[in-house]
Amino acid sequence: MSGATTPAQTTEDDITSEVLQRIQGTPDPRTREIMLSLVTHLHAFVKDVRLTEAEWFEGITFLTDTGQKCNSVRQEFILLSDTLGVSMVVDLIGHRRPAGVTESTVFGPFHRDGAPELANGESMATTDFNGTRAVISGRVLNPSGTPIANALLDVWQANSDGLYDAQLPNHDTLRMRGKYRTDKDGRFVVVTSRPVAYEIPKDGPVGRMLAATNRQAWRPAHVHFVVAADGYEPVTTHLFDAADPRLKAGGDAVFGVKESLVVPFREHVAADTAAAKGAKVNGPFVSVEYDFVLKPVG
Ligand code: BEZ
Ligand code: FE
Repeated sequence: MSGATTPAQTTEDDITSEVLQRIQGTPDPRTREIMLSLVTHLHAFVKDVRLTEAEWFEGITFLTDTGQKCNSVRQEFILLSDTLGVSMVVDLIGHRRPAGVTESTVFGPFHRDGAPELANGESMATTDFNGTRAVISGRVLNPSGTPIANALLDVWQANSDGLYDAQLPNHDTLRMRGKYRTDKDGRFVVVTSRPVAYEIPKDGPVGRMLAATNRQAWRPAHVHFVVAADGYEPVTTHLFDAADPRLKAGGDAVFGVKESLVVPFREHVAADTAAAKGAKVNGPFVSVEYDFVLKPVG
């Protein structure tokens, strides 16, 4: 009987060709490019490993669980992307920065909007009683070394037990977060706790994936920053504590470490106003000096 518009597909390669052909008419060129490549690679993967129906269904269950684990304070899909290295591949492709400009790294799932605006020298760690105080100071500069006034630093980190506010019982309360602005000389002074290494959440599907592939879940000690200023590309980055043994032991569970972001934390046994950049920090503390360099837009 005539009238069939689609030839019968008899092999798996016929199906691949047919799907690709139907996508050819996608109006938006970028969507078309992405969809053609996605289907090509997805089909090639299934054929390569000769995926069984049971394995396919296990994959569907895994992705369903990943979606169902997400809520207003838990983003399991970002965690999945991070632990599969996809986030860092996207980062490296998208942020090829000229030498001297601060490198970016993973955003992670724990950023939250609405951090309080704090004055330079004010602490963002007022609820973290067990940690060692840390003063992170420096400047925000353009690539020629000119200070950028009024740049915004959005800073967040885990507490000294290695937990983000979203992981604590009263998770609606913002903790260990602050927004700081550079002064007229481009200077900032963040007061926080010395970061500690922590394990990323492993009580969900991503944890099952890590266990099944015999992988560790640790991230070396770090503080998160998004640094932004008018006329410059914002940078999403971390500063890692060079003294953390986790930098070497098994690496970062999400592949986010870049050499230029590993910085020494100087240890001070007593109050030291100069090292604390005027911030009121009593007793032992650590200090870091770091200049962020932003790339002009365009
Ligand atoms: C973080 O550093 O907050 C983070 C990044 C990726 C996955 C989990 C946590
Ligand atoms: Fe983190």
